[in-house]
Amino acid sequence: MSTTETPPIDQSKLDAFVGRFLGDLGTALHVPTVLVGDRLGLYRAMADGDPTSAADLAERTGTNERYVGEWLAAQAAAGYVEYDAAAGTFRLPPEHAALLIDQGAPVFIPGAFQLAASTVKDEPMITEAFRTGEGVAWHDHHPDLFVGCERFFRPGYAAHLIDDWLPALDGIEVKLRGGAKVADVGCGHGASTLIMAAAFPESSFAGFDYHDVSIESARRAADAAGLGPRVRFDVAAAQDYPGTNYDFVAFFDCLHDMGDPVGAAQHVLSTLAPDGTWMIVEPYANDHLEDNLNPVGKIYYNASTLICTPASRAQQVGLALGAQAGEERMREVVTDAGFTSFRRAAETPVNIIYEAKP
Ligand SMILES: C[S@@+](CC[C@H](N)C(=O)[O-])C[C@H]1O[C@@H](n2cnc3c(N)ncnc32)[C@H](O)[C@@H]1O
Repeated sequence: MSTTETPPIDQSKLDAFVGRFLGDLGTALHVPTVLVGDRLGLYRAMADGDPTSAADLAERTGTNERYVGEWLAAQAAAGYVEYDAAAGTFRLPPEHAALLIDQGAPVFIPGAFQLAASTVKDEPMITEAFRTGEGVAWHDHHPDLFVGCERFFRPGYAAHLIDDWLPALDGIEVKLRGGAKVADVGCGHGASTLIMAAAFPESSFAGFDYHDVSIESARRAADAAGLGPRVRFDVAAAQDYPGTNYDFVAFFDCLHDMGDPVGAAQHVLSTLAPDGTWMIVEPYANDHLEDNLNPVGKIYYNASTLICTPASRAQQVGLALGAQAGEERMREVVTDAGFTSFRRAAETPVNIIYEAKP
């Protein structure tokens, strides 16, 4: 084929791609309308599951009826609310309400979409980074990323951390019950730290993150939860956070965001007690790209392009593991740093929980 010839078009393939695009575009435009519903309390006002009209919902939420009517139509078209054409009313089914209102449900959709929305706001920085090869630091993103990240991840931690992940680690639950010294590194807003601190009153917890704004938020959350004295939050990087002789060090969804994960792993090793344990929570990923071409991979490769890879490249070394590194790559990082034992201890459809020991 010459370079001027266009390849033949398979019409059915083209039609299927257009159909796919229509779905994708509707979902993309649905992101901000979910945030509108979250921020104005529209979903919360429908939590009772009773049918409501636009006028009634607007009245109860102090919003404009015409806007709310259009918003309800969009929610109905997306399948988020149900529409009764005969009555002209809309209803939020309890199964949907759980994921749209309850921050304790295993999935909290507005948090996830808040995170997604931040990436659209930050796209110009990322486009420029593609040209220059420079990084874009975590702290340079729109604040919706930090808040959205916490709201997106916390429900999963609340659902699995205490009941599934910690029991899957060798001997950790017993140590935490008896009183252990714990560091939660790259803790962000401290959701995981506070969940563990509430569950294990005999243990002491130190949360570290290099991002000062996140640490301030974590401190406020600890005070609000009345956990202040047993939980400290300090600004510190994974490569040099303070303290030694930790029984348990945890990294929740952050090792791959770091510029120098091997350096961080070496520091973890130097701060652990001889029989201590390092838990690494990472996005679910298989070892090979072709095995990650699925809905989970679609989320994480996009997030990795827009957030994780640029964040790592903004730091020293800039290894850029990516959010879909997979178990074998994680094993290399951990064993290169000097850990002698590494295993996959647990998993969910979106996370893998690794255990490493000195
Ligand atoms: C995806 S967020 C996860 C936050 C939190 N662990 C959670 O699960 O909600 C990644 C976090 O890693 C932090 N981080 C990135 N590089 C870091 C480093 N070198 N040292 C400490 N924290 C770092 C970021 O500031 C951010 O809070």
